[in-house]
Amino acid sequence: MGVVIKGTGSYLPEIILTNRDFEMMVDTSDEWITTRTGIKERRIAPRGMASSDLGVEAAKRACEDAGISPEDIEFIICATISPDKFFPSTACLIQSKLGLRDIPSFDFSAACSGFLYGLEIGKNFILNGEYRRGLVIASECMSRLTDYTDRSTCVLLGDGAGAVVIEKSDEEGIVGSYLSSDGSYEKLLHAPAGGSRLPASFDTVERRLHFMKMEGSALFKIAIQAMSNSVKKILEKYNLKKEDISLIVPHQANLRIIAGVARNLDIPIEKFYINIEKYGNMSAACVPVALDEAVKKGLVKKGDFLITVAFGGGLTWGANLIRWIK
Ligand code: ACO
Repeated sequence: MGVVIKGTGSYLPEIILTNRDFEMMVDTSDEWITTRTGIKERRIAPRGMASSDLGVEAAKRACEDAGISPEDIEFIICATISPDKFFPSTACLIQSKLGLRDIPSFDFSAACSGFLYGLEIGKNFILNGEYRRGLVIASECMSRLTDYTDRSTCVLLGDGAGAVVIEKSDEEGIVGSYLSSDGSYEKLLHAPAGGSRLPASFDTVERRLHFMKMEGSALFKIAIQAMSNSVKKILEKYNLKKEDISLIVPHQANLRIIAGVARNLDIPIEKFYINIEKYGNMSAACVPVALDEAVKKGLVKKGDFLITVAFGGGLTWGANLIRWIK
């Protein structure tokens, strides 16, 4: 018995923030952002819209693509670091928006690696025999964690959501994963306040501690190393050669990180699906949005092996091996 991806969907809010817009907000330039990151524009959710609103649209599209109705869904799991609220979970809010009742729904947090963790969690929900079909969603409003006075982070982030319907099958679609983390790097990438360590106060707001803080250049080096290593680990684990892989769907944090991974692995960059220029870093949503685009563009054929690979806050990192069965 195995688990396959039956349908993919994504949703990007319509508002576009371009590099030129940032030139009027902070001391930066289109040239700096483009050459240092590969990003040209990103999507921003309008005021009043939250991660569950993006996630439910991606979920509906994934159900449609799978040829099922939302009523056929037996569990919902959602990766997010920008939930609507601390609680209830974004997954519960999506469940309600889909009109579903009496199924398990919960969020989990692995930052940019969240969707990769989700595929493995969802697969095991099904393999344990209790459930036949579920939604794995990654939805992020990173603009809400962004300090638009900090040029070193604000140009990087965007909002969006991606989702997949996964289903029990005789075939193995989600073949397996390599997942890892190292919490000792906590402070390289974090939102210092708002949790139980440093609850919200006038002082935390004044000191802008609810926004994402990042040690960009330290992360840059670790990201290339961790992502390259994750691809190597998954190839080794399943006894595959890099030539066996048709497409790599990477997290989209920086075009130079993706290029570094390609160089490290000696895999042509054309084998990596890249859409960073349009959306920037949408944390956990990057991989499922890129997967959905690659599938809809016809870049993935039945029987192909794909690898997803990501890196993010935690630090967390990893890769999934997927056989495309649809
Ligand atoms: N415009 C112009 N100049 C800038 C900008 C900007 N937007 N941002 C930084 N600079 C300046 C810096 O101040 C610095 O100036 P200085 O030399 O006078 O001090 C100079 O550019 C170089 O800064 P670096 O930080 O060394 O630039 P680098 O080439 O490393 O690029 C970047 C920075 C894009 C942040 C890169 O380090 C990166 O992508 N890091 C990884 C990010 C990442 O992977 N994050 C994890 C995922 S996010 C998540 O999980 C939610």
